[in-house]
Amino acid sequence: MLINDKKNLPIGFFDSGVGGLSVLAKFRKRLPSENVVYFGDTIHLPYGNKTKEELVMYAKNILNFMNNKPVKAVVIACNTSSAQAYDIVKNDYSFPIYPIIQSCAKSICALNYKRVGVFATEATVNSGKYTSEFKKYNSDIKIKELPSKNWVSIVENVGENIEPKRANIKYEIQEMMRFKPDKIILGCTHYPYLMNEFVKYAPKDIFIDPSDIFTDFIKKDLEMNNLLNPNKNQGYEEFYVSSNPNEFVKNAKIFYNVISTPILV
Ligand code: DGL
Repeated sequence: MLINDKKNLPIGFFDSGVGGLSVLAKFRKRLPSENVVYFGDTIHLPYGNKTKEELVMYAKNILNFMNNKPVKAVVIACNTSSAQAYDIVKNDYSFPIYPIIQSCAKSICALNYKRVGVFATEATVNSGKYTSEFKKYNSDIKIKELPSKNWVSIVENVGENIEPKRANIKYEIQEMMRFKPDKIILGCTHYPYLMNEFVKYAPKDIFIDPSDIFTDFIKKDLEMNNLLNPNKNQGYEEFYVSSNPNEFVKNAKIFYNVISTPILV
C-alpha cells in the first residue's frame, strides 16, 4: 500500500462501552483530521470482572475486526484490556497498538510523584499493571491501587439513581486519601465522568485523567511512524457495538456527540 493511502486509513479505538469515548474526545481535539473507527464491546460489558482468558479473546476478536477494515493503528482505550490482554496480543498484528497504561507510564513517572493512587477495575488492579509499569521508570514510587466495583455501571446507566452508590464513592475516596497520595490516577476510562462526585471528597487537581497524556503519546508516535493524516478536513467517524446501539448513543450523549447510529456487529 502507498504511504499516502496508509495515512488516510482510520485509527481504531476500542473499549467495553462508552468509556473509551473519553479518550476519543481528547484525541479529536488534538488530531481532528484523523479518520476513526470506534468499537464498543457492549455485549461483554463490564470488562472489569472478566477473566484474563475472556479479555484476551475479546481483544483478539476486536483487533481482527479492525485488521479487516483495515486500520493503520489501534488505540486500546480501555485500562482493563491494556492490563490483561495487550501483552498477549501485541505481536500478532502489523499495525501499532497503543495500550493506555503502558503508553502513559513513562510520562507520568517523569513528573516525579512519590505516592500515587490508582482507581481502576478489579481486573486492572488484579493485574498489578499500573504498579509494574510505573516501577520500570521509578523503582521508589509508592503506589496504592484500589478496585472500584460499581463505578462503571453508574456511567453506563446514565439516569439511574446514583444515590445508593454515592456512599461507596465517598468511602473509596476517603480510603485512598488516607494513603496521602500526591496524585490519584483515574485508571478506568469511565471514571472521568464521575468527577463531579469525586470533587466532593478530594481536591479536583489531585486527579489525573491519563487520556491527555495518552493522546499526546499517540500523536507523537504516529508522527514518528510517518502515519499522521495530512488532510485538512475533519476526519470521519464510524461507530460499532456488539449490542444495544440505541443504549450506546443514549449513554454517550452526555460526553460525546456520536453523530451516526452505531452499527451492530
Ligand atoms: N473502561 C474500561 C477501563 O478503562 C473498562 C470498564 C469496564 O467495562 O469494566 O478499564
